Amino acid sequence: MKILLVGSGGREHALALGLQADAACTELHVAPGNPGIATIATIHPVAVTDNDAICDLATKLEVDLVVIGPEVPLVNGVADVLRSAGFAVFGPSKAAAQLEGSKDFAKGVMRDAGVPTAHSFTCTKQSEIEIALDTFGAPYVVKDDGLAAGKGVVVTDDRDVALAHALTCTRVVIEEYLAGPEISLFGISDGRNILPMQPAQDFKRAFDGDLGPNTGGMGAYSPLAWAPDDIVEETYEKVLAPMIAEMAARGTPFVGLLYAGLALTDDGIRVIEFNARFGDPETQVLIPRLVTPLATLLYKAATDDLDDEVLHWRDESAVTVVLAAGGYPESPKTGGVITLKPAVEKTQIFHSGTTQDGASLLSSGGRVLTITGMGADLTEARDRAYRVISQIALEGSFYRSDIALNASVAEKGN
Ligand code: AMP
Ligand code: GLY
Repeated sequence: MKILLVGSGGREHALALGLQADAACTELHVAPGNPGIATIATIHPVAVTDNDAICDLATKLEVDLVVIGPEVPLVNGVADVLRSAGFAVFGPSKAAAQLEGSKDFAKGVMRDAGVPTAHSFTCTKQSEIEIALDTFGAPYVVKDDGLAAGKGVVVTDDRDVALAHALTCTRVVIEEYLAGPEISLFGISDGRNILPMQPAQDFKRAFDGDLGPNTGGMGAYSPLAWAPDDIVEETYEKVLAPMIAEMAARGTPFVGLLYAGLALTDDGIRVIEFNARFGDPETQVLIPRLVTPLATLLYKAATDDLDDEVLHWRDESAVTVVLAAGGYPESPKTGGVITLKPAVEKTQIFHSGTTQDGASLLSSGGRVLTITGMGADLTEARDRAYRVISQIALEGSFYRSDIALNASVAEKGN
């Protein structure tokens, strides 16, 4: 099977590694990829925003499967262009990707499917916004309806800050605050069936102790020993399966990865958000733990063939830690020289924002590298990931030192 993977981050590096490890994958091409991906696949300089160029590349390479990593091309309809040209695609249509592209759309589908989520109002006028803010009270949760590259959500106790953010949005969703730990639970769907993956937890704030600004994610781990035993089953029954059924009933089946961001509240699970693609950095812990051959799995999803599929997992823990450029997330400094040490057993260095300049590896984004450690438990996995990240040199860079720390301590206490 020849595969084209679209994207250039740590998530795509992890997916590339998983696809490559499946013997069914005979050729792996990635557009545009990055220097880390280039060591395991053939990369092609095609922009993820150019639907026609991606389709032309798939045609030229005669691939059997196209896997779309990021949300922007999905919301731009790249999967529709590829499907019209006859390709099997892992990634939702433009219509189905609206689950990520519009928070108001996602709320409407959840309402029709009976999926538990925060109560909300969608507003366009200041008067509506003020009524919504005062109905729910503090903490205020204000979400830009559209894609906003991680900058769309503001959670604050300050009504003026909430109002100011709401007024910058053309359309805004204001919702009830959900208290409780957050988890990410992904499902792989062929449009009719959805196979839940194991849960992961992501660390969104920039600094230790969950301080500092929201980011794309500073680290993640899996499995979650502290989560209820039936969390996967419950999420399948209350969230994933009803969403897939509702999207199919609307005539816009969701084929690809449905990312459920959940809050475990005192009243039960609630959906915080959906994404229409694998999460970053959760993918960097889930793919190394997945035993089921990835290329075959995603091909089956893309060709409506998941009826008899089950997922198998390694009984090992994984922890991933992001090395971020100085100034991330507001104004990351790019162009710094990165010095890597050779890899250590049971660790993997995934490239997130790097570029090759002659013999030098340079930083080219806010999140630069993602380092995953595997181990018999979270403590061992953390030790490995931190041993590697502490030896990487990049001036001004930083990373959180508490990824999976509480969970690893709790696990030791069990
Ligand atoms: P998102 O960009 O949708 O992932 O939201 C960013 C973060 O905002 C989430 O990870 C949560 O920590 C927080 N958040 C979003 N919605 C809510 C909510 N209704 N209640 C509490 N926190 C929320
Ligand atoms: N880790 C959060 C996301 O991928 O959106």
